[in-house]
Amino acid sequence: MSQFIYGIDFGTTNSALVILDTKTNNVVKLFTTPSLLFFPETKSAREEITFSIGNEAIERYVENRRRGRFMKSIKKVLPNKSFIDTVIGYKRYKAEDLVSLILIHLKKQADEFLGENVTTAVIGRPVVFDENSEKDALAQERLSKAARIAGFTDFYFQMEPIGAAFTYERQIKKEELVLVADFGGGTSDFSLMRLNPEAVNQADRGADMIAQGGIYIGGDSFDSDIMWHKGTGHFGRGVKEEITPGKLIDLPLSYFQNICSWEKMNFLDTLRMRTNISKSYGFTGKNPKVKNLLTLIEDNLGYVLFKQIEKSKMDLTYNDETSFEFNQNEIDFKESITIDDFGQEVINKNLDKIEEYLMAFLEKYQISQEDIDVIFMTGGTSMVRPLKNIFTRRFGEHKIKSGDNFNSVAMGLAYSYKVVSAQA
Ligand SMILES: Nc1ncnc2c1ncn2[C@@H]1O[C@H](COP(=O)(O)OP(=O)(O)OP(=O)(O)O)[C@@H](O)[C@H]1O
Ligand SMILES: [Mg+2]
Repeated sequence: MSQFIYGIDFGTTNSALVILDTKTNNVVKLFTTPSLLFFPETKSAREEITFSIGNEAIERYVENRRRGRFMKSIKKVLPNKSFIDTVIGYKRYKAEDLVSLILIHLKKQADEFLGENVTTAVIGRPVVFDENSEKDALAQERLSKAARIAGFTDFYFQMEPIGAAFTYERQIKKEELVLVADFGGGTSDFSLMRLNPEAVNQADRGADMIAQGGIYIGGDSFDSDIMWHKGTGHFGRGVKEEITPGKLIDLPLSYFQNICSWEKMNFLDTLRMRTNISKSYGFTGKNPKVKNLLTLIEDNLGYVLFKQIEKSKMDLTYNDETSFEFNQNEIDFKESITIDDFGQEVINKNLDKIEEYLMAFLEKYQISQEDIDVIFMTGGTSMVRPLKNIFTRRFGEHKIKSGDNFNSVAMGLAYSYKVVSAQA
C-alpha cells in the first residue's frame, strides 16, 4: 500500500483534496477547485460530450456565450430521491456521475503530483445530508459510488466538522472543550469535541467526540434570500397576469422559486419554463419585468446573476452597505442593501433557524454554554457578520476562534485517517 492517503472535502461550493503522508502524519500538498461543472451545448445528438470543472467551467461558460449546462451546488442533489438522472447530449448522468467528475479532477492532479495511483481516502460528509434518514443514507451511498467511479477502493467517511476539529487541534496548547461550527455553502455543521494537543496522533478518539449535529442551511440559502427579497421584484414577482379577461392573478410562484435556488436551476426544464413565461408575458401586457425573467432563462444568465448576488453578500462582510447591481442583456437594476437590512430583513429567518437549532443541540446534549472553552468557526459562510454576531452575543467574543475557512475540513479529514481506519 502507498504511504499516502487523500483527505477529500467535496463541498457545495468548493472542494479540496489533501495529500497526507501516513509515515509522518503531515500534509504534503493541497489541491482545490470550485465545485462547478459546465457542459457546452452539443450541436447533434451524437456529438461527443465535453465538460469543464471549476474555474475553467466559468471560462467556458463565458466563451460559449453561456450556451450549455452550467451546474452549481451539485452536492445538494445527493439526498434528492426524485432526482434519477439528467440528460446531457446523448448521455444520462446520475448524481454519482456528476459528483465523480469533480473527484476525478482532484484525484488526477494529486496522482500526477505523486506519480502514483492512490486509492485510499477519507471523504467528508456533512453531519446531516438530510433530516430524513433514508435520504441521508441515499446521499452517502451516492457519494460512495462517486468515489468508486473515481478509482478509490478503500475509503472511509468522516463528518466534516470533525475534520475541522482535528485541524484546529494542531494549533492548541492545552486541552479544550471545543464547539466546531462549520458554515459552508450548503450546510451548517456542529461538532462538540474534547481536543488535546497530546492526543493528536492517537487512533482511539471515540470518547472525545461528544456530539454532532447539523442543519441544511448555508451560504446558498443566504444567496437565495437575497434573490428573493432584492431580485425577484425585478423579474416580475408582484406583477399580475390576465389569463381570463377581467380577472387579474399573480404570476405563478414557481417561477420565482425556480430562479432562487440552484437545486432547481441546475435541472430546470427551460423549454417548458420559456413557453410558460412567454405566455405570461403576453397576459401581463408585455410587462418589462416579465421580459427580464424571459431573458434570464433564455440567455442562461443564472450563474452571472448569482455571482453578483454572492459579490453583494461578500461585500457586506467588509462594508456596512453594498449595491446589488445587474446590467446585462437589457436587464438593468440596482438595489442597495445595508448590513442591518441584510441581517434583519433578508436572511433573518434562516439566522433564527440556525440559532434555534444550535440552542436545541446544546440542550439535547446537556451542554451549558459556560462549559465550552472555544467556538472554532470555519467555512466561507462563517464570515457572514450577522451570523457571527449570534456567537459573539451568546458566547462572548473572546471564545471565538477561526483558521483557514476553506481548507481546514479537508486537512482534518486527512489527519483523521488513523482514527477512521482504526474504527473500521
Ligand atoms: N467573504 C465572505 N463573506 C461571506 N460569505 C462568503 C465569503 N466568502 C465565501 N463565502 C461563502 O461561503 C460559502 C462557501 O464556503 P465553503 O467553501 O466553506 O463551503 P463548502 O465547503 O463548499 O460547502 P458545504 O460544506 O456546505 O458543502 C459560499 O456560500 C460563499 O458565498
Ligand atoms: Mg464545507
